[in-house]
Amino acid sequence: MKSKVLAVIGARPQFVKAAAIQAALGERRRSFDWVWVHTGQHYDRLLSDVFFEELKLPRPKYNLKVGSMPHGRQTALMIERLERVFEKEKPSAVLVFGDTNSTLAAALAAAKLRVPVAHVEAGVRSFNRSMPEEVNRVVTDAVSSLFFCPTAEAVRNLRREGVTKGLHVTGDVMADLVRTHRGAAAKAPFAKPYYLATVHRDFNTDDPRRLSQILEALAKLEKPVVFPVHPRTRAAAARSGLRLSFGALRAVEPLSYLKMLAAERHAKGIITDSGGIQKEAFLLGVPCVTLREETEWTETLRAGANRLCPPDARAIRAAFSKMKRRSAGAAYGSGSASKKILDVLERFTEARRVA
Ligand code: UD1
Repeated sequence: MKSKVLAVIGARPQFVKAAAIQAALGERRRSFDWVWVHTGQHYDRLLSDVFFEELKLPRPKYNLKVGSMPHGRQTALMIERLERVFEKEKPSAVLVFGDTNSTLAAALAAAKLRVPVAHVEAGVRSFNRSMPEEVNRVVTDAVSSLFFCPTAEAVRNLRREGVTKGLHVTGDVMADLVRTHRGAAAKAPFAKPYYLATVHRDFNTDDPRRLSQILEALAKLEKPVVFPVHPRTRAAAARSGLRLSFGALRAVEPLSYLKMLAAERHAKGIITDSGGIQKEAFLLGVPCVTLREETEWTETLRAGANRLCPPDARAIRAAFSKMKRRSAGAAYGSGSASKKILDVLERFTEARRVA
């Protein structure tokens, strides 16, 4: 009998991380009975389906179609539906990714059934508990058995929280995927020079004054700002009557993974509040300005590749003037994170099966 792993995804950044694992899984089908579960947290074609098509992710065996609703209800509904799937499938381990409500729900549902939880991106911390993602990360790690840490710093964070077993520094699965696909991003998808901007964090979108300041700052930059708009941000702007295309600002629909990678690679600079995009900017050597007061991806700051910045055009320009295009850093591993994760998972589930 093979070990069964249930891997739970639900939001856009998780489809990207899943694609890295799927690519490494290829020849290993022999060792695992692998089941993908989609919670349905993201359901828009441009936030979900295109990633499955473009990155050749198999159609998940389950789509729980949870959809958008307040965090508590969304997480509760996911737990309820995931619990039924876990009871039916009886996995040897549940693999979760990152820091979304889908991650938290899967970790809690599995832990309550005494199914070991393996966490990709374990130990990453912003130390800002007002972020829903930080709560999700801390709680997920509190119930995990296997910690796949992207960096040595993530291991240190977990040790400080008292974790002593199951720690593995694997590198970052997003770095695996950038390596695989950066060649395909050879052509700029927009007329150069341009900046690329994304904004979707609740603290940037849900306060109309803050969102308006961000849009005004981007509109005042000296080059066009290509702005793929997350549906959450579009809805928030519509509620407050804010425009998304004026001055330098050019709103576009959310981009697929490969188009986004190409847009990032050829941008003069990237302005974002996304964690994944800060890392991708670093890996592609493109200067990045982060519209937050702290970041969990501190390696990018230390390398001088990323700067935290308030939503103000002068501050953004000043931040970019202090950064140059540079060669990509190695802080996120050598491109074999997914393979390392599967090696550990294979040994772990095999040992439990034999025991
Ligand atoms: C979620 C994650 C965040 C991640 C982001 C990537 C949590 C707590 N947050 O944030 O960490 O960086 O995904 O995108 O899990 N919506 C749609 N269509 C969709 C999905 C969402 O229109 O397919 C809109 C809805 O108005 C919804 C809002 O976006 O209410 C927020 O969606 P949600 O999944 O709750 O969180 P994100 O902001 O996407």
